[in-house]
Amino acid sequence: MDWGMANRLAQLIQSNGRCVFMPIDHGYFQGPTTRLENPWRTLEPLLPYSDAVFVTRGVLRSSIDPVASKPIVLRMSGGTSMVGGDLANEGITTSMEEAIRLNASAVGISVFIGSDYERQTLLNLSTLVNEGEKYGIPVMAVTAVGREMEKRDARYLALCSRICAELGAKVVKTYWCEDFEKVVEGCPVPVIMAGGPRVDTELEVLQFVSDGMIRGAIGVNLGRNIWQNDNPVPLIRAIRQIVHEDVSAEDAHDFFETLKSNQT
Ligand code: 5RP
Repeated sequence: MDWGMANRLAQLIQSNGRCVFMPIDHGYFQGPTTRLENPWRTLEPLLPYSDAVFVTRGVLRSSIDPVASKPIVLRMSGGTSMVGGDLANEGITTSMEEAIRLNASAVGISVFIGSDYERQTLLNLSTLVNEGEKYGIPVMAVTAVGREMEKRDARYLALCSRICAELGAKVVKTYWCEDFEKVVEGCPVPVIMAGGPRVDTELEVLQFVSDGMIRGAIGVNLGRNIWQNDNPVPLIRAIRQIVHEDVSAEDAHDFFETLKSNQT
């Protein structure tokens, strides 16, 4: 791997091989999502506990302090919305030159495998990989499911993750699922877990993060389950304990409760 590519990946994936990314890109198809109405207000307290931020160029320029920031994964796909025809019908929304101008450490793009737009979104990924290789910029592929959350099983997610790796993604972000090791084992590049819509309790979040880490994920890219929680800072700190310190879900939950009760 060339020096620039390796250096950018090292900014994202920490020296222990693990990472906690903070996605605040949801507005690109959901608009002002609950608790992300003002992105900077949501992000600022979480920034010290995030290894990188996943964001669109619009929110990056308008809402993120270029001085007090973290490595950026720039979202480069979009063009659809929650109220439009099909979330899968995405294109590439900006250029690699723009990613360089914004000093992005990586770029991210969604693919919708099994949808009517499978070919288009996989070719979007390939185009981005071709561009990224020219400039030493890693591509993170996002295995998106649109509204069809029931698609999240090991067989489907393993297929998606492997295809993304075959097309040249340096990292794959996919959903946690039962038998997550099947996803990781079939994917020759590092796998990161997304969260999806909020689950009911903090313990459930900590349990699926812990399970995925034990089964081979290198980290998380967890948004709504953190910043839609009433105690996002204690929760991200507890998640970091699992990802970076191999703490169990139960011990991380105790840590969360302690931090929560100590908040002023
Ligand atoms: C949205 C995304 C998000 O980055 C991803 O879904 C992670 O966020 P969450 O944990 O809220 O699902 O790709 O398009």
